[in-house]
Amino acid sequence: MTWELRDIVYNPVWMISTVILGLVVRSQRRGSWDPRACKVELKGKTAIVTGANTGIGKFIALDFARRGARVILACRSEARGNAAVREVRQLSGNADVHLRLVDVSSLESVREFATNILREEKEVHILVNNAGASGLPRGITADGLEVSFATNHVGPFLLTSLLLDRLKSSAPARIINVSSVNHWRGKVDFSHFHGNNLVYRMDEVYNHTKLHNVLWTNELARRLKGTDVTANSLHPGVVMTEVMRHYNWVVQFIFKLVGFFFFKTSEEGAVSTIYCAVAEETEGISGKYFDSDCSLVKPSPTARDPAIALKSFEFCERLTSKL
Ligand SMILES: *[C@@H]1O[C@H](CO)[C@@H](O)[C@H](O)[C@H]1NC(C)=O
Ligand SMILES: *[C@@H]1O[C@H](CO)[C@@H](O)[C@H](O)[C@H]1NC(C)=O
Repeated sequence: MTWELRDIVYNPVWMISTVILGLVVRSQRRGSWDPRACKVELKGKTAIVTGANTGIGKFIALDFARRGARVILACRSEARGNAAVREVRQLSGNADVHLRLVDVSSLESVREFATNILREEKEVHILVNNAGASGLPRGITADGLEVSFATNHVGPFLLTSLLLDRLKSSAPARIINVSSVNHWRGKVDFSHFHGNNLVYRMDEVYNHTKLHNVLWTNELARRLKGTDVTANSLHPGVVMTEVMRHYNWVVQFIFKLVGFFFFKTSEEGAVSTIYCAVAEETEGISGKYFDSDCSLVKPSPTARDPAIALKSFEFCERLTSKL
């Protein structure tokens, strides 16, 4: 007997049991730490969130704004960025929310952005490297970098390096990297950065870039020891966000359908980042990796290897100093 999709879809028993199962799964989703129960205030603190015009990034920015922080939304699109600023200001009642434009895939744009921040902001206490995308089409940037690597890793690497002294002088400060559980499937091959030896299958390229995120965090944390600046990475959960916008509509439709039951919303996806950025529980913790339920977990064996982390860090340092 062969089953076809329409046999399932048109069969009411199947349909109803699938919906019930989905609702049960949805109701079981854990939210371990509740940002609303956390009373930490951020008055007098400045936070930068990249990719803050949509999805998780916007909810992270909103949470910081509600706690009274001065929040910089670092976005690529002026129109969407301005809309997000208006929304965050309105929902939080905090007017100290601002848009600064940056395209993290362009090293020139990152440098210009960082120069402006260093000129305008005397202090930076929180940096959330949230911008990133999966399923980007094959491409090489003006810097000669593979697009996903430039967007998800090299741009954020350079941005953090350029702001590092300001973060140190503003300490206590926290750097948070939104990585992903996908890093488990990533491999380290430095020719990937220039678009060589890459297979564009599913989210394979994304997976590689997310591994470098975790490696970088660990090396950065090692270098920051004794400074009161912490660096952690995390998995936000499988989130329905516009990260999916680069896939075709069929894939997007299926994701949306499945996602309604099984995935986190962007608001839920923001929680582990907020936990790392503001919670008292994570104060002083550095070089760690958190999962989407805010528990401290071990990243993949490759991600934990200090020698590979050092190599990845030095590779990116050389790369960004040359370009
Ligand atoms: C975050 O990831 C970026 C690459 O995406 C990396 O350059 C940066 O060092 C990471 N920061 C931390 C704290 O891990
Ligand atoms: C990327 O990682 C995800 C999550 O671990 C995995 O399901 C997927 O198969 C990986 N993709 C490739 C091409 O390895």
